[in-house]
Amino acid sequence: MIFAKATVLALSGLSLAHPGVHEPNSYSSMAKRHFLHDARRSLDLCADHLEKRGVNERAQARRAAIIEANKRHYFFPRDTETTVNKTHHSSLKVSPNTPESELFSKNPVCILAPEGEVGPFWVKGELIRSDVRDGEPGIPIILDGQFIDINTCEPIKDLYWDVWNCNSTGVYSGVQSDSNGNGDDASNLDKTFLRGIQKTDSDGVAQFKTIFPGHYSGRATHVHVIAHTDAHVLPNNTLTGGHVSHVGQLFFDQDLITMVEATYPYNTSTVDITKNIDDHVVQVETADSTSDPFFEYALLGDSIEDGIFGWVTLGINTTASHDSDVSYAAFLTKNGGVKNGDSSF
Ligand SMILES: *[C@@H]1O[C@H](CO)[C@@H](O)[C@H](O)[C@H]1NC(C)=O
Ligand SMILES: *[C@@H]1O[C@H](CO)[C@@H](O)[C@H](O)[C@H]1NC(C)=O
Ligand SMILES: *[C@@H]1O[C@H](CO)[C@@H](O)[C@H](O)[C@H]1NC(C)=O
Ligand SMILES: *[C@@H]1O[C@H](CO)[C@@H](O)[C@H](O)[C@H]1NC(C)=O
Ligand SMILES: *[C@@H]1O[C@H](CO)[C@@H](O)[C@H](O)[C@H]1NC(C)=O
Repeated sequence: MIFAKATVLALSGLSLAHPGVHEPNSYSSMAKRHFLHDARRSLDLCADHLEKRGVNERAQARRAAIIEANKRHYFFPRDTETTVNKTHHSSLKVSPNTPESELFSKNPVCILAPEGEVGPFWVKGELIRSDVRDGEPGIPIILDGQFIDINTCEPIKDLYWDVWNCNSTGVYSGVQSDSNGNGDDASNLDKTFLRGIQKTDSDGVAQFKTIFPGHYSGRATHVHVIAHTDAHVLPNNTLTGGHVSHVGQLFFDQDLITMVEATYPYNTSTVDITKNIDDHVVQVETADSTSDPFFEYALLGDSIEDGIFGWVTLGINTTASHDSDVSYAAFLTKNGGVKNGDSSF
């Protein structure tokens, strides 16, 4: 795999003394061109298929209008700036019980982002659970993801969505490192907040209750995604086997981030905010691409503190394996987190 080696090299180049995290662009332009070529072809096929399949009948009129208004954007590559500038604020009135057919009722804006950006903070062996907050303070958000198989254009059932993001002051649980908050805090290794795994249902959808991520140096606000295909559940509610069919990161509109960052305790952070447009992973996932790795969202109440509902569709190549691209910082055992001795990080 072209970018497996690049990822390992890039990670070993991280400066441990630096308080910020700079995850280098690990994706070669050659690999990306190939990928985008394949992805574009398969997206066209998917759009056609879902159209015929009538997935969206229940919201047909609305869907038609949306497709018409956005057609060019879905089928022609955009630049990063166009995708970053686009608003993902939905006018839908949603609640946590809004039917999936209402949310995912337009042509899939598949991610199919170039893979390989797992970052330095993945913890392997997390628990399968939907509420991953563990009491962390912050703006509650429901993350709703729909996974579509780009080879068949069908929703992917029984995929395991592995999610993680930093807390409101920019620190990940489960990782002890100088580039992750207080590097002397060994107790953070045993923490599991804002990490978890959920299985997709027959519509290819899985959901998490978490809090909106804060930010840390050098990166735009983001949520990490790993998709596990053909994995099995162990008696202790963790995963084994299968393969990683997708690795990526998801983002939020800049104006939404600004609103969240004004609230407590996000507003106690003194770390500079890196904007979406300046983030290297946003650039890799959007440049010259039809993919849109931004959550669509709606507010759950009158104020931002009432919470956010965010949803996104991801196109997954289930036959691809990215196992060799995903290095992990630590793994979770019944006695807590253990640093990965093999990790170049
Ligand atoms: C994106 O937004 C910025 C700031 O409003 C503006 O200067 C720029 O022209 C926009 N670019 C595109 C491609 O829409
Ligand atoms: C974020 O996590 C770190 C590490 O566990 C913790 O020290 C910090 O207090 C947390 N932030 C908030 C706002 O609770
Ligand atoms: C953060 O927000 C809280 C709640 O609105 C406010 O009381 C506090 O003064 C703010 N702190 C900073 C540093 O802006
Ligand atoms: C899906 O992955 C397989 C196996 O790596 C690869 O041969 C194929 O080209 C990929 N398809 C797309 C559309 O990227
Ligand atoms: C779950 O069980 C597996 C297999 O015995 C073990 O390796 C892992 O550490 C356990 N994880 C937890 C969180 O208990």
